[in-house]
Amino acid sequence: MILVTGGAGFIGANFVLDWLKGLDEPVLNVDKLTYAGNLGTLRPLEHDGRHIFRQADICDRAALDELLAQHKPRAILHFAAESHVDRSIHGPADFVQTNVVGTFTLLESARAFWSALPEAEKKAFRFLHVSTDEVFGSLCATDPQFTETTPYAPNSPYSATKAGSDHLVRAYFHTYGLPVLTTNCSNNYGPYQFPEKLIPLMIAHALAGKPLPVYGDGQNVRDWLYVADHCAAIREVLGRGVPGETYNIGGWNEKKNLDVVHTLCDLLDAARPKTSGSYRDQITYVKDRPGHDRRYAIDARKLERELGWKPAETFETGLAKTVRWYLDNQAWVDEVASGEYRKWVETNYAQRA
Ligand code: NAD
Ligand code: DAU
Repeated sequence: MILVTGGAGFIGANFVLDWLKGLDEPVLNVDKLTYAGNLGTLRPLEHDGRHIFRQADICDRAALDELLAQHKPRAILHFAAESHVDRSIHGPADFVQTNVVGTFTLLESARAFWSALPEAEKKAFRFLHVSTDEVFGSLCATDPQFTETTPYAPNSPYSATKAGSDHLVRAYFHTYGLPVLTTNCSNNYGPYQFPEKLIPLMIAHALAGKPLPVYGDGQNVRDWLYVADHCAAIREVLGRGVPGETYNIGGWNEKKNLDVVHTLCDLLDAARPKTSGSYRDQITYVKDRPGHDRRYAIDARKLERELGWKPAETFETGLAKTVRWYLDNQAWVDEVASGEYRKWVETNYAQRA
């Protein structure tokens, strides 16, 4: 069995659903169920004996020790994190707690469990840490993409705490020999993404007739990857990655935010036309994110070269699938857009007016 942390969130849940579609190996899913964790996403696995869900905080050492002793996973895939940059600006403490203290606690628990394993199991064990390209900081328009050797230069409390967690993971390999793997991925999009992030937020606001809030001049660049491609890359790294190595994951899909919003509007105009005008008419420029990184871009050649991974989706095919999914699953969006979500939207956007 494998242990997944954060498997009720966007990428973790996609990973668990995809894993159990293709394999019979059970998954122990450990998630605190913060605002970003939704058991509704895992409803297709409700009666599936291969999926065991446990609500627990990765900062709770005793709970982790007990789960490891009871279920004896062959690998830990660590997705759990506070993940939204804007929230990290409003409240960095939760990010330090989960991303740094939580990862440290999980590493300590994993180390104790792993140290006591018989030699063959010890050798086969893996701790895969899911991280982000934001740890590398911000690029100018002409800079080359981030590689695995780009120096760390995080700029937000979110990316600083992810960088801290990456360093701890690295240290556990060098100091204790824990067989770790780290992946640094670019911006994901796809089904089940919480509507605080750019793409699902714009779709939800467009359909609700609300303003589409573009930060600053809308010229910031992100490198987009369809979530199923990220999950496929993680499976490759888990299976054949070399312990101690890091792997960049990206789709070679650099886009300016404004272009992404325009494309979304055009897809919605075609799929769900308004009675008059275009969704583009709802675009509004709002106050920029403090410390807003200008450009992220991933060089994913190591993963391609060493493990043969390539994304299956282009940005066009992935985005069309994503828009279709949100149109067909508005009940999921309504379910996750709780009172807490509405409060967050008020907090984040009122001050940008
Ligand atoms: P998410 O916010 O959608 O989900 C995070 C999950 O972690 C939630 O289910 C939440 O309940 C859980 N969680 C939070 N704190 C916890 C704690 N203390 N204990 C246990 N569970 C806890 O995040 P996501 O977008 O799915 O990102 C998953 C991982 O991938 C993160 O580590 C993130 O840094 C990384 N990542 C995300 C992206 C992206 O574009 N979304 C890109 C690259 C890397
Ligand atoms: O690069 C990987 C990272 O991508 C992950 O590590 C993070 O967990 C994930 O949240 C994401 O971070 P970003 O800050 O890039 O994603 P977000 O969707 O918040 O914003 C994408 C871009 O869109 C960014 O330049 C800010 C802009 N934006 C965002 C929102 C929510 C807007 O213009 N308006 C908005 O309302």
